[in-house]
Amino acid sequence: MEKVVTAEYLYSVFNGKRVFLTGHTGFKGTWMLQILHYLGATVKGYALPPEKEHDLYHQVHGDDLCSSVIGDIVDLELLTEEISNFEPDFVFHLAAQSLVRRSYDTPVDTFMVNTQGTAHVLEAIRQLAPPCVALMITTDKVYENPERGTPFREDDKLGGYDPYSASKAAAEIVVESYRRSFFNTDDYGNHEKSVASVRAGNVIGGGDYSDDRIIPDIVRALDFDEVVGLRNPGSIRPWQHVLEPLGAYLLLAAKMSEDPIRYSSAFNFGPNEEDMLTVEQLTGIFLESFEQGDYKVFLQDKPLHEAKLLLLDSGKAEAMLGWRSQLDAHTAINWTAQWYADRKTPAQDKCTQQIKQYFGDI
Ligand SMILES: NC(=O)c1ccc[n+]([C@@H]2O[C@H](COP(=O)([O-])OP(=O)(O)OC[C@H]3O[C@@H](n4cnc5c(N)ncnc54)[C@H](O)[C@@H]3O)[C@@H](O)[C@H]2O)c1
Repeated sequence: MEKVVTAEYLYSVFNGKRVFLTGHTGFKGTWMLQILHYLGATVKGYALPPEKEHDLYHQVHGDDLCSSVIGDIVDLELLTEEISNFEPDFVFHLAAQSLVRRSYDTPVDTFMVNTQGTAHVLEAIRQLAPPCVALMITTDKVYENPERGTPFREDDKLGGYDPYSASKAAAEIVVESYRRSFFNTDDYGNHEKSVASVRAGNVIGGGDYSDDRIIPDIVRALDFDEVVGLRNPGSIRPWQHVLEPLGAYLLLAAKMSEDPIRYSSAFNFGPNEEDMLTVEQLTGIFLESFEQGDYKVFLQDKPLHEAKLLLLDSGKAEAMLGWRSQLDAHTAINWTAQWYADRKTPAQDKCTQQIKQYFGDI
């Protein structure tokens, strides 16, 4: 595998740096925490406690990898205090109510956490002694999606059908407003804050136990010897291994620290177009790698609206950062299946192996 993001380069930027990571107890956050630890960064995490006893954060002993603050992103006072005291070089804001289906049950909470929470992080950064590089993690679902199959570019119209997507699109508008009003690149010398927002697609990888996500749903069904249920078998999604967007976030942040003005904007990080698969195709490949071939599809009576077709154009990331997807869909699914299928190796070791395989040795 040709490496477009190398551990060697990231180490030269992050080793010994102070990184404030929100959402460190979540799926992507726990992987990010482990990469940052591998790179020698000093991490302070800020999030709610892991939801489940067997969550990846517990499995990898996340508390040993960072200074962990259990706090609500809605609590502006505590968040500001924790960020100010830490004086981070980098902020990665991953904390969110991240589930589309849950957002239909808790729309107000979703807007509060995702939209207002993003404003809180930006406000805390505004109060911070400079310099600081900050990445706000949103999603590929921030675009108004007429499902025509045209890949979205960064300047396409924002929108959102369900409360999750709308809350993240609104978060993008908040980021842009803070960037224009307080972190304007024309005035960089005065504030020394560089802020980007990043939009990636559905990720897969070992250690995700969230509700209502396809791989955890399949793993749970296999664990209990149940039929694998697929809500939207025909939906095409840009599947990525979790290390792909995380590597992209780190690469962008590293470049921002070198040239804070040039990169302070929005970036898409999607897989290659040929790696788009339907939910049903993904399931078939996963079960093959897992060596459990047989599955039946059941459909919900009244499925909630979820976008069927979502493609990202990552041309800007490729042109400006030299970034492109490194793992094709089959490899991403195989790495994920192998992670779950190996029940002997401790989770921490499985993650470290894949991190080294992806980024290389330092
Ligand atoms: N997983 C995906 O497929 C995917 C795809 C696109 C974008 N994203 C985005 O990436 C980020 C991380 O996703 P994930 O899959 O790790 O999500 P996750 O649900 O596994 O983790 C969410 C994290 O946010 C924290 N959090 C939730 N509410 C909070 C609150 N009120 N205060 C403080 N912390 C709170 C949780 O404690 C947890 O640490 C999110 O912003 C998500 O929207 C995820």
